[in-house]
Amino acid sequence: MLDEIAAEIRQCRKCALCQARTHAVPGDGPPHARIMLIGEGPGQQEDLSGLPFVGPAGQLLDSLLEQAGLARADVFITNIVKCRPPGNRDPLPEEVAACRDYLNGQIAVINPRVICTLGRPALQTLIDPAASISRVHGVPREQDGLLFVPLYHPAAALHRQDLSPTLVEDMRKLQLILEKALA
Ligand code: URA
Ligand code: SF4
Repeated sequence: MLDEIAAEIRQCRKCALCQARTHAVPGDGPPHARIMLIGEGPGQQEDLSGLPFVGPAGQLLDSLLEQAGLARADVFITNIVKCRPPGNRDPLPEEVAACRDYLNGQIAVINPRVICTLGRPALQTLIDPAASISRVHGVPREQDGLLFVPLYHPAAALHRQDLSPTLVEDMRKLQLILEKALA
């Protein structure tokens, strides 16, 4: 099922992001992961490799996951759009809308207990269009039978050093949240 969704994504031409892509990036991880991580969209390294979070933000993500007692193999990682927005700009609302069925399909098949959003676009797409990441990061929210945990995007800490301690603190919180939610 996940493979079928991935195959559709690789051929997809539903929005303009298909034009400049090298590879679409469907996502990666165990098909029945209990935790999903959802970012914003592929960057340059992801576009070149077809894999999510393999560039600089991905390396930082790995060390953040470790702080929460997690490894890559524990989580399914994908993005709200599967093709790289030019120059890493935020995906446009129409691109997110065009791509939404793939994400919904992945969530339905994987059926995770916890979804962590990474960054503002994923937060506003999946949890609350009006939410402010600086207010709600690290605060879990039960919604539609799932536990959502909004987190800063790891790339935020690459641009803003002052955010690093906050990201680390949120990973500690995430570890406690997961201990309860997955018990
Ligand atoms: N940033 C994202 O949001 N997703 C990736 O896959 C890589 C970088
Ligand atoms: Fe299709 Fe999503 Fe890629 Fe747009 S971003 S072309 S909707 S897979």
